[in-house]
Amino acid sequence: MAHPTYGLNELREMFLKFFETKEHLRLPSFSLIPQNDASLLLINSGMAPMKPWFTGEEEPPRHRVCTCQKCIRTGDIENIGKTARHGTYFEMLGNFSFGDYFKRDAIHWAWEFLTSPEWVGLEPDRLYPSVFAGNETTPADDEAFAIWRDEIGIPEDRIFKFGKEDNFWEHGSGPCGPCSEIYYDRGPEWGCGKPGCTVGCDCDRYIEVWNVVFSQFDNDGEGHYTELKQKNIDTGMGLERLACVSQNVASLFDVDTVMNITNKVSEITGAKYEQSDKIDVSLRVITDHIRSATFMICDGVLPSNEGRGYVLRRLLRRAARHGKLLGVDHPFLYEVCDTVVHENEGHYPELRERQAYITKVIRTEEENFAKTLDAGMKIYDEMLAAHKAQGETVFSGADAFKLYDTYGFPIDLTMEMAEEEGMTVDEAGFRALMEEQKVRARKAREALGDLGWAGIEFGKDMPATEFVGYDRTSEQGKILALVADGELRDE
Ligand code: ALA
Repeated sequence: MAHPTYGLNELREMFLKFFETKEHLRLPSFSLIPQNDASLLLINSGMAPMKPWFTGEEEPPRHRVCTCQKCIRTGDIENIGKTARHGTYFEMLGNFSFGDYFKRDAIHWAWEFLTSPEWVGLEPDRLYPSVFAGNETTPADDEAFAIWRDEIGIPEDRIFKFGKEDNFWEHGSGPCGPCSEIYYDRGPEWGCGKPGCTVGCDCDRYIEVWNVVFSQFDNDGEGHYTELKQKNIDTGMGLERLACVSQNVASLFDVDTVMNITNKVSEITGAKYEQSDKIDVSLRVITDHIRSATFMICDGVLPSNEGRGYVLRRLLRRAARHGKLLGVDHPFLYEVCDTVVHENEGHYPELRERQAYITKVIRTEEENFAKTLDAGMKIYDEMLAAHKAQGETVFSGADAFKLYDTYGFPIDLTMEMAEEEGMTVDEAGFRALMEEQKVRARKAREALGDLGWAGIEFGKDMPATEFVGYDRTSEQGKILALVADGELRDE
């Protein structure tokens, strides 16, 4: 290997230090729970919590900022574990300019950080930049192209031009713009070997390590773009990916801190990594999902049947089932949580402070699910056999709904299990039944009238409740009122 190797925790610190030398203000990661942003369930990039600083609505603490942001992306949840590249939880390193420096500095600093022997020290001849090729609304980025060619000195034929899909960054609504990415060539041994495999190929050879977004538009979420008052820089670099390149390992699951979590799962389950594809999928699912769950709970998300609480519930239940596949028949995820804390507490000390609380939440969810998992699996097997006996390849929405409603099986869990049997699930049928149930529940609430809905009306006059769960897992309380059958009781 021609470049030095750094641990994930070292790389994070290096990045933040580097941008401090370029007069950036280092900020801690923002919470995973978006504040005042209804367009997102969970923070999914370094820039997401800073949107008002990009638009100019709010004044940033400094016009140059750098962070390492906790992120969750669940769009690919069903692929997690199956490929070496997908994960729901990751950390994004980012340097940001709010109306301060623009393309030139952003490109020079990206290059310096990645290639200088004082910093990451990657081999320059393994790096390939790309720029936006242009489309009907936004011109080709000749300026970025010229900076790469004339100032950094990359030969023209090593600079790639891609369209909107690759080189225009946007995620839902908000600040966005054309971007320039940097790919690292890991060598032909990682490639697909197909003719034409080059930068941009989907295989594991060329991996994108850096993305500089020239954030100059605001997307209203309906595809209307307006020019922002100021030109900004929004960079994103996946910390695990950078570690993967620096450590020259196969996937983000093989990076030092992540592998230590998998090793813990192996220790508990007795299942060894890299002995069978099936076992590896389960180990990766558990490793990824427990990382996400630990950080989400630390930031205040609780398992529930809605919104981000449901994302958390899905992750924990999917991980619990994969534990079962590995032969574990007792709650165990909460034990892995300690390793997640250990690997990350240097940068996120709040994990240790809230560990008892996080562990308790995970254990309770595992215990609750365990109560119905076996019964649900038995019913699922019967349903599956019935579908197969009929020669059907689609698992019915009604059955999927029953598994959800009675046994707490999230739909993606049923889908994953069905897929393992070569079947699909009638998801539309399932969603229609969910909708009917919601309408029924709303009508029932309305029928109960104002008094009915457990104390909401009475609650208005009650003193506020102080949440102490970050520090303590039990506390004494006083009952102020009891509501039963829609009536306020005296006793
Ligand atoms: N916001 C950009 C990304 O997430 C940098 O890739």
